[in-house]
Amino acid sequence: MQLLRSAFIALSQNRHLRRFGEHSKIGRRLSSRFVAGMETGDALRVAEALNQQGMMVTLDSLGESVTSEMEAHRAAEVYHHLLDAIAERKLKANVSVKLTQMGLEISPALASEIVADLVRHARATGGFVRVDMEGSALTQKTLEIVRQLHARPDLKGNVGVVAQAYLYRTEADVEELLAEGIRIRLCKGAYNEPPEVAFARKIDVDLNYVLLSHMLLMSPIYHGLATHDEKMIGAIKAYSSQHGIGSERFEFQMLYGVRRDLQRRLVQEGYNVRVYVPFGPQWYPYFMRRLAERPANVLFILRNLLRA
Ligand code: FDA
Repeated sequence: MQLLRSAFIALSQNRHLRRFGEHSKIGRRLSSRFVAGMETGDALRVAEALNQQGMMVTLDSLGESVTSEMEAHRAAEVYHHLLDAIAERKLKANVSVKLTQMGLEISPALASEIVADLVRHARATGGFVRVDMEGSALTQKTLEIVRQLHARPDLKGNVGVVAQAYLYRTEADVEELLAEGIRIRLCKGAYNEPPEVAFARKIDVDLNYVLLSHMLLMSPIYHGLATHDEKMIGAIKAYSSQHGIGSERFEFQMLYGVRRDLQRRLVQEGYNVRVYVPFGPQWYPYFMRRLAERPANVLFILRNLLRA
C-alpha cells in the first residue's frame, strides 16, 4: 500500500504525464471526479450547489510551483476575482491558496506580499484566506509567512494555515500557532516525506491526529478538522461531546468528490461541514495525490469512465 502511495506521489511530479493529462479530453474527464471544472464559473456553480445542501466551501484555483513573478500575479488575480464573486453571490465560502503558486520558490517576500494583498481583500469583503501546507521543505517558510501576516493588525484573523499530523514537528508548531490565535486546518498530510521528518506508519499518524485534534478543540479558536477517516471523526465527536464543546465551535472539512455520503450525514447530524473545491486546468498533481491516498480510486474512476 505504502509502495503504491509513493508511486502515485512520484507520478504526480512527472512532467510528461502531466502535459499529456492536462491537455487531453480523456484526462479532463478522468479528473472530473475530484475537480469541479476548468473555469471559475464551474467552481462557483459547485459552491452554490453545496451551499444549498448546507455545506460551506473553500475554493482552490489549482496550480503550484510557478516559475515567474508574472505567473504568480496572474494566479493571484484569479483569487481576487473569486473573493469578489464570493461576496457578490453571498456564498458561504473562503479561498485556499498555495504559497508556491504565489511565488514562494522565487522569493518568500514576493509570496508574502501577494498573499497580504489577498488577505486585505478578503478582510474588506468579509472573507478568509487559508494557506495550504505543501512539502516539508516549505513548512518553516509557510508558517513564518502566515504568522507575520496574522501579526499585522490590518490582517489579523483573516488568514489561517494548515497543520499536518504526519510531521513530528507539528505538535510544537500547533502550540505556537494556538498561542498566537491563528486558525488551523488539521489534516494528515499528503506528500511523500522521509522518516527523518514524518511518521511512516498510519497508526502513528492517526494517533498524532487525534492528539492534535484535542489541542485544537480545547482552544477558543474556530478550527477546521479535515479528514474522511471515520475513526478520526468518531474520536472528534466523542471528545467534543465529553468536553461540552458545541458543534458550532469547529468544522469538519472534506475534499470535493470524496465520501459525499459522510459529508451529507455530518450535515444532517448538525455539524459544520466545509468542502474543499479545486478547479482549473492545472489539475494533474492534485488529482494524483488523491489517487495516492486511495489507490482503489483508480479502479473506481476507470469503471465510471467505461460506464459513461
Ligand atoms: P486516510 O487517508 O487515512 O483515509 C481514511 C479513509 O478516508 C479511507 O479509508 C477512505 O475511506 C477515505 N478516503 C481518504 N482519501 C480518499 C480519497 N482520495 N478518495 C476516496 N476516499 C478517500 N494535505 C496537505 O498536505 N496539505 C493541505 O493543505 C491539505 N489540505 C486539505 C484540505 C482538506 C479539506 C482535506 C480533506 C484534506 C487536505 N489535505 C491536505 C489532504 C490530507 O492531508 C490527506 O492526504 C487526505 O485528507 C486523506 O487523509 P484522510 O484524513 O482522509 O484519511
